[in-house]
Amino acid sequence: MREEEKAIGLLDSGLGGLSVYRELKKQLPQERAIYFGDTGHAPYGEKTNSQVLEYVFSIADFLLQQEVKMIIIACNTATAVALDKVIERYNIPIIGVIQPGAEEAIKKTRNKKIGIVGTEVTIRNKSYKKTIKEMDSTIITYSNACSNQIIREMEERALKDESKIKALLKECVSPLIKSGVDTLVWGCTHYPFLSKYIDQELSPEIILVDPAEATVKEAKEWLTRHHLIYNTGQYREDTFFISGDESLFASIAQKLLGCIPGRFHKAPKLLSS
Ligand code: DGL
Repeated sequence: MREEEKAIGLLDSGLGGLSVYRELKKQLPQERAIYFGDTGHAPYGEKTNSQVLEYVFSIADFLLQQEVKMIIIACNTATAVALDKVIERYNIPIIGVIQPGAEEAIKKTRNKKIGIVGTEVTIRNKSYKKTIKEMDSTIITYSNACSNQIIREMEERALKDESKIKALLKECVSPLIKSGVDTLVWGCTHYPFLSKYIDQELSPEIILVDPAEATVKEAKEWLTRHHLIYNTGQYREDTFFISGDESLFASIAQKLLGCIPGRFHKAPKLLSS
């Protein structure tokens, strides 16, 4: 297979990476995606750094066997813990969501107060804070870790309890709003799908940043620079490998994306645990 014909690999602990997949289909509709949803190990937000790193390595190995030309780590938690290490280990371009998300937030803020919500692991690793400070030390960041229960409500309970999701998100976002942030980063790829639940809680002055857009823009620029854009216009089906219940994943994915995005498979067992 010629390099440009290869797929783009995406990985996440589950459904969240679909917010990046959705953006990929907007900006690079002709590219074929191979998506790995590690629902068998979700939520990543309650795992240790070494567990998350082990999952990411095993998924990246698997994606490389599927012949991908690039990997997008469509998960903030995995990016926070593993991005530098996967870049070191593999010889293909690997893009995470945090740097692009941080850059976007810096562009958007007017009062230089940026809020970040994410999983416990992402917030504990301070990746957004460090990245933002390195780029502009005058910006003040406010971070809050949201309950892992939000991920469970999506992944296991198929978003059935909307009022619970709403309450959990509100609890997480409110302290940041009180701190006076004018920009709020969805520092977990699951959350952009939940924006609608807290629309009413947020004043229209608050700018919401979904890192997916800037991440895919970066991927597109890299592929363009290296003449690796696939542009024959021929339709190719996307593939989804799911380590947990693939039919549950497929039905929620359809609900979130409003279409059946491709073919779903049970992922082979990559790790012993
Ligand atoms: N979607 C992930 C993120 O962006 C992780 C959610 C989880 O599994 O805890 O951080």
